[in-house]
Amino acid sequence: MKQLNITTPVLIAKYEEVPAVERQLIDEARRISAQAYAPYSNFSVGAAILLSSGKIVTGANQENVAYPSGTCAERVAAFYAHAHFPDDKFVTIAIAAFHSDGEELSQPISPCGNCRQALLEYENLFNSKIKVLLVGKEYIHIISSISDLLPLSFSHL
Ligand code: THU
Repeated sequence: MKQLNITTPVLIAKYEEVPAVERQLIDEARRISAQAYAPYSNFSVGAAILLSSGKIVTGANQENVAYPSGTCAERVAAFYAHAHFPDDKFVTIAIAAFHSDGEELSQPISPCGNCRQALLEYENLFNSKIKVLLVGKEYIHIISSISDLLPLSFSHL
C-alpha cells in the first residue's frame, strides 16, 4: 500500500502586501457584500471576479425562504460572469464576509463545496488557474487555484 498526501499551499498576506489590482478586487468584494439578501442567516458575503479582459464582475449571496433555493456570492458572480462574458477567463476571485452588524470576519471564509465545484468548471474550461483571495479583516489567504481547494475532484472525462 502507498499513502498519498495532498497539501494546499496557502499564502498569508496583509492587504498592503498584495498588488493594487488585487486590492481593488478585495475592495469590490467587500463593497458588494452590502448587497447580500441574507435575512435568514444575517451573514453577508461578497465575491468579485477579475476577468481576463480586465473587467470585474461581482456578486452577493441571495437567500430564499426555501433555504436551499438561495445561492452563495461566489456562484452569483461566476454564473453572471460566464453568462455575460463567455469568452473571458476567470483570473482571480476575492471573497469577503460580514456579520449582520457590519463587522468583517477576522478569519477569512472559504467557499463551500458547491461553489468549489462550480468554480472548478471554469478553471477546467479555460485550462487556466483561478487565483483565490480569501479576505479577512487582518489577513488575506491566497490560494493559487480552485483545484487546490477541491483535490480529488469528480470528473468523468
Ligand atoms: N455563503 C456564501 O455566499 N459564500 C460562502 O462561501 C459561504 C456561505 C452564504 C450562503 C448563505 O446565504 C450564508 O452565506 C450563510 O451560509
